[in-house]
Amino acid sequence: MKNKPIRLSVIMLAALMAFSAAGGCFLLPAAAETAPVYTIGNIREYVVGVDEPVELADGAMRPLINFDNAATTPVLRPVMDAVDRELTMYGSIGRGFSQKSDHSTALYNDTRDKVLSFVGADPETYICFYVGNTTDGLNKLASALIESEDDLVLATRMEHHANDLPWRERCRVIYAEVDEQGRVIYDDIERLLTENEGRVKYVTVTAASNVTGYVTDVHRVAKIAHAHGAKIIVDGAQIVAHRRFSMLGETPEENIDFFVFSAHKMYSPYGGGAVVGLADELGKHMPEFYGGGIVNIVRDDSQTYKDAPASYEAGSPNYPGVVGLGAAIDVLLEVGFDAISEHEAVLNRRLVDGLRKLPNVIIYGDTEDLSDRVGVVSFNFSDVNTYVLATTLMETGGIATRRGAFCAHPYVWRLMGIPDEQLDSFEECTDVNTPGMIRVSFGIYNTEEEVDALLRILPAAIERAKVKADEEYSRAEPAY
Ligand SMILES: Cc1ncc(COP(=O)(O)O)c(C=O)c1O
Repeated sequence: MKNKPIRLSVIMLAALMAFSAAGGCFLLPAAAETAPVYTIGNIREYVVGVDEPVELADGAMRPLINFDNAATTPVLRPVMDAVDRELTMYGSIGRGFSQKSDHSTALYNDTRDKVLSFVGADPETYICFYVGNTTDGLNKLASALIESEDDLVLATRMEHHANDLPWRERCRVIYAEVDEQGRVIYDDIERLLTENEGRVKYVTVTAASNVTGYVTDVHRVAKIAHAHGAKIIVDGAQIVAHRRFSMLGETPEENIDFFVFSAHKMYSPYGGGAVVGLADELGKHMPEFYGGGIVNIVRDDSQTYKDAPASYEAGSPNYPGVVGLGAAIDVLLEVGFDAISEHEAVLNRRLVDGLRKLPNVIIYGDTEDLSDRVGVVSFNFSDVNTYVLATTLMETGGIATRRGAFCAHPYVWRLMGIPDEQLDSFEECTDVNTPGMIRVSFGIYNTEEEVDALLRILPAAIERAKVKADEEYSRAEPAY
């Protein structure tokens, strides 16, 4: 997209040449439509639905302030436009005999190259297959890579359930601890690998936490893992829309072996995502899913399969998801990851500084040094039920947050200092009285004014939530 203005000048030059060839006597066509250049300064204009009003409790209609971007992001207009455009030429992928089918199949496969290039993956070494989301990708990886329930995987206590349960359910998992702030302890990874020398097959880590936003130095982890004979898998759900990610480290030992991410967290809907992984490794395995599109020949009593990546994509694929993913990559690269991370740092700082002024606030993670965090801040108040507070923010302020333990229970319980023996009592809890945090997660289009709006409304919302919790709920969430 960066070269669109250049393309425009080429069009104008061609028009001028045609003009002089025609003896300088025709009317110039209407100015060719210029493609916008997307920047961190103007991207909000291209967020679908950003000004769509929602109804508040008092009946007022106001655009939502969306601070729930770690869960899913709104769609960008150019992504939606690309999907609309491509649907006019949509045909079956890899199966049909039509011009549309050829067109769709070519774009579907070209987007693999775009994904590989987006994450710095050499196509000689890595392949890309499409998945529905990160959960789908990690489950497919686990089902392919894990050969026995005695296999050993090393994860961390920071992981989202999507990068924990698929391994737990298939083999043995050991966990490296996090420190008091919630950062991964690299020495603990090293210690566990040494104690289990040669037995850990895979080290699996998230590149950024969905709870604290902490970014893990995955290339450092790769070096440690490789030195002990393990391969590394990276859950990229919270990094792809926030920081430039590369499979390549500074040395080959620091390279990442497998990377998984979701497109719906990078401004594309349609349930897309991808796994990028070592071609040799993926080629040795098959995932749990079988069906059409992945076979060479099926006989009465035997069958042979295509090579990866096709072998990982049984059934008809999600073409709009793939088109959206490709378009989202283009826009994010154009906006630029330096600009995105600078913007997030400003929003993080503003929010944390504002929150610190509020009585009884608990902010998770280091509040001085925010440099190693993507745009995610989780907090709560020792004297307020967070379920009721999040509901109040939504109903009275039109502010979307997330509340709970964010599918990362062991991490959240640690950060909140809730001991293991107390967890039994949560089995019976309802949403309202299960302990948790409130999470604000930023997208590229959020503004400082929106952060200020949240900070302005919080004191009144807290008071209102206290009254509401007493009046409407018999048992308030215990304070930790
Ligand atoms: C760190 C992390 N990993 C994995 C996931 C799962 O992503 P998805 O719901 O797209 O499968 C999430 C979702 O929030 C996440 O934050």
